[in-house]
Amino acid sequence: MSDAKKVFVRTYGCQMNVYDSDRMTDALAPEGYASTDTLEDADLVILNTCHIREKAAEKVYSEIGRIRKLKDARAETARPMTLAVAGCVAQAEGEEIMHRAPAVDLVFGPQSYHRLPELLKRAGAGDRVVETDLPTEDKFKALPAASREVTLKRGVTAFLTVQEGCDKFCTFCVVPYTRGAEVSRPIAQVLDEARRLADAGVREVTLLGQNVNAYHGKGPDGADWGLGRLLHALADIPGLDRLRYTTSHPRDMDDELMAAHRDLDALMPYLHLPVQAGSDRILGMMNRKHTAAEYMALVERIRAARPDIALSGDFIVGFPGETEDDFRATMKLVEEVGYASAFSFKYSPRPGTPGAALDDQVPEEVKSERLARLQALLSQQQQAFNASKRGAVMDVLFEKPGRFEGQLGGRSPWLQAVHVEAPAELFGEIRQVVIEDVGPNSLVGRLTGDEAAARPSGADGRVAAEAGGRA
Ligand code: 5AD
Ligand code: SF4
Repeated sequence: MSDAKKVFVRTYGCQMNVYDSDRMTDALAPEGYASTDTLEDADLVILNTCHIREKAAEKVYSEIGRIRKLKDARAETARPMTLAVAGCVAQAEGEEIMHRAPAVDLVFGPQSYHRLPELLKRAGAGDRVVETDLPTEDKFKALPAASREVTLKRGVTAFLTVQEGCDKFCTFCVVPYTRGAEVSRPIAQVLDEARRLADAGVREVTLLGQNVNAYHGKGPDGADWGLGRLLHALADIPGLDRLRYTTSHPRDMDDELMAAHRDLDALMPYLHLPVQAGSDRILGMMNRKHTAAEYMALVERIRAARPDIALSGDFIVGFPGETEDDFRATMKLVEEVGYASAFSFKYSPRPGTPGAALDDQVPEEVKSERLARLQALLSQQQQAFNASKRGAVMDVLFEKPGRFEGQLGGRSPWLQAVHVEAPAELFGEIRQVVIEDVGPNSLVGRLTGDEAAARPSGADGRVAAEAGGRA
């Protein structure tokens, strides 16, 4: 066994947590920690948790129980195990975790992980440490960058957090409490990180933020840049052929961002635009600050800017006071929009949020029944969207080994998984593919062999997609 200490990070929840987990590993690298995929092999275990719905937090407590056995067995050995709980449950519950789970040595929130080396030293000295302040310092600036090797190992697609936190205070959501106020990272910092990723061979970057389209920063020209301008600057970075962003709030889709969808070939034709519900009464109670009709009008403007765009959304059923008529309004909105993919959830009262204090909570069986109806419709729409790509010619970025020997797995511009018979050398490349088969969750394609297509996904990728996409 090598002398290097090992850290095992388990990630729950959203893509921002995936990004944060990598940053934690980066923060520990200078301390001599290598990352491991084997829990049993770890000196330090970090559970990077999610608090968005009840089940997510409960999963963490049962995982702590399992790890405790391993930790106890190691207690008297030369390699004791340290157990840390990070992320949004850590932020929301803090001390409560220490009470409920004596095996935990360290609890720290999403705004403290740049201080991980120091926190670990304190925990190593025998203290049980809880760190859940929301500091104002720039954690990103304090974090070391991943080495080129590490970035490469993580793959040809990468996440990049550009904005964090939320000031919207939807009445169902814990994020404003767990992630704090809305903050955008400075443009120069974002561009630096993107260039580093591109230099290491990353081809596709997904910009992350709880409210990513509210992004704003001071550009090199001194002007205030929104997400649209930032996307233009990112598209100019050689090697970054594909850009995506998530998650957006309908109120923050500005004209510049819409124009970016029209003008930038690198910006993929896929938009995650949660609406949550279709009834104006419920939207009001949720404090979403828009109506169903305003959302529909927005969808029309987006489709006018980029006709082949695929829309995805999030939905909550059973928000307090939701009647059968309210729920039908959600179904109607879904029918009108036609989603390519979506996530839908039963409302889960989160402690400390205004929704949890409302009287009219919807019974569990009603929520389950509505969720089943909604999911049946959404899955029908997803299948219809996939089926519309049969025979289409599209660019695929190959990003992992395929399901079967001799195949590679990639993504379509619309984020669909595509399996293709292709040589391993094409890993990390974008190639033109014709879709021969479609399933509910993925497509099967064949390389067209058109070497003229061996280019970054560019203008003609879009023409091909439009020509074939409506087949
Ligand atoms: N209950 C159920 N779903 C929720 N979401 C956020 N908070 C809750 C909650 N309390 C869903 C929303 C959001 C997604 C990330 O999770 O749909 O867009
Ligand atoms: Fe979970 Fe939301 Fe926190 Fe992401 S930001 S980890 S979804 S609670």
